[in-house]
Amino acid sequence: MVDLIVGLQWGDEGKGKIVDLVAKNYDIVIRSQGGHNAGHTVVVDGKKYALHLLPSGVLNPNATNVIGNGVVVYPPQLIKEIKNFGQGIKEKLLISDKAHMILDHHIAIDKAREKLRGKNAIGTTGRGIGPAYADKIARIGVRMGELKNIDKLLNKLTHYYEMNRGYFEYLGVDIPKAEELREKLQEWRDELGDMIVNTTNYLWENMDKNMLLEGAQATLLDIDHGTYPYVTSSNTIASGALTGSGIAPKNLNKVTGIAKAYTTRVGNGPFPTEDLGKAGDRIREQGAEFGTTTGRPRRCGWFDVVAAKYAVTLNGCDEVAIMKLDVLDGFEKVKVCVGYEIDGSEIDYFPSELDEVKPIYVELEGWDKSALVRKWEDLPKNAQKYIEFIEEKIGTKIKYISTGAERNATVIRD
Ligand code: GDP
Ligand code: IMO
Ligand code: MG
Repeated sequence: MVDLIVGLQWGDEGKGKIVDLVAKNYDIVIRSQGGHNAGHTVVVDGKKYALHLLPSGVLNPNATNVIGNGVVVYPPQLIKEIKNFGQGIKEKLLISDKAHMILDHHIAIDKAREKLRGKNAIGTTGRGIGPAYADKIARIGVRMGELKNIDKLLNKLTHYYEMNRGYFEYLGVDIPKAEELREKLQEWRDELGDMIVNTTNYLWENMDKNMLLEGAQATLLDIDHGTYPYVTSSNTIASGALTGSGIAPKNLNKVTGIAKAYTTRVGNGPFPTEDLGKAGDRIREQGAEFGTTTGRPRRCGWFDVVAAKYAVTLNGCDEVAIMKLDVLDGFEKVKVCVGYEIDGSEIDYFPSELDEVKPIYVELEGWDKSALVRKWEDLPKNAQKYIEFIEEKIGTKIKYISTGAERNATVIRD
């Protein structure tokens, strides 16, 4: 049985919290796309863990964690996270031999290109994600399994650097010296080699176990279905998780979509419900909306039903979690976007081009205290109405309502 957790907005919805909450029900937790651009926060007993490459199942001592073929891995980051967590987790970690590697030059290219784009910059996390996926698609990338034969890998990389010399010079990106590169590759092989396996086979052999696919980024950042070009470079939606793990569609059991009770976005690109006034600032302050990966302030605004419905449909969600409801505590009124206006007419679907749309809002009554509530009946009436309004509009059951960062600050509905 394979279940999936997927972000429904522009990321940072609180996927890490929900994965951690439900991880006890699973034997295997799998990351299937993205890389260390992700920042998934888990808070247990007051202690905060920020996970970038490790699946959020690592806090469950019984789960095996898999970094699937669709992930792009920056080995120094993975080594660092393993060290932070304790070497013990190596026993419970597998890395796909087909996962592509992020090398230092990918990071340098990412940053150099962003600089060249000037005011049109995407606002990437600067982690080399786009350039690494570009090499994968161009069929000139390097896979984790290649660490097993360093001489061969070095030859391949020498040729790669030669082929790209002119472009690298133009961008001001250094080509590493062969000996330094050899040392790095050897260190990575020594640290990670034992965990690099054919994870596709491993997952197939364990199909009788309970598995959880942990999405990174989110639907509106999907390379095909997001707000292109202001997106990440992977398929972040449910179907991408299957490609990125080798699990067949027929094995997918349940899809849980994760959304905040409002909307945030970090990086550039259209965001119809962004609130540039006091309400947006207040959400940022109350929600501590600063990036887990880059520390950047997140852009904040209201819940967008049109975008959420689009995301629920793309992913085939069976249920939804609404996160950070407590952050809206104390607002006299809360706004929800229920349609868009474009060229003077109203639409109720998510268009391929989001630049020109203006949100159409309805206003609902606010509430005071939802923080840390764990039972539906203890939620303020207006908070219940807010949840029911969204549920009705997106046509999908809201199963979880999160009222605080801790694992147990969660309402679970039957
Ligand atoms: P992810 O990338 O989807 O895993 O989300 P992030 O970890 O980047 O961002 C979510 C942030 O909100 C983290 O700091 C969480 O600890 C925090 N968080 C999660 N759920 C809640 C909640 O219900 N209320 C509050 N106040 N904070 C939450
Ligand atoms: P999690 O998994 C929020 C955004 C970046 C930028 C765009 C492209 O924590 O939800 P990239 O470095 O991927 O090329 O950047 O995507 N982005 C995220 N925003 N949460 C994330 O991950 C993100 N990962 C990438 O800010 O706008
Ligand atoms: Mg995050």
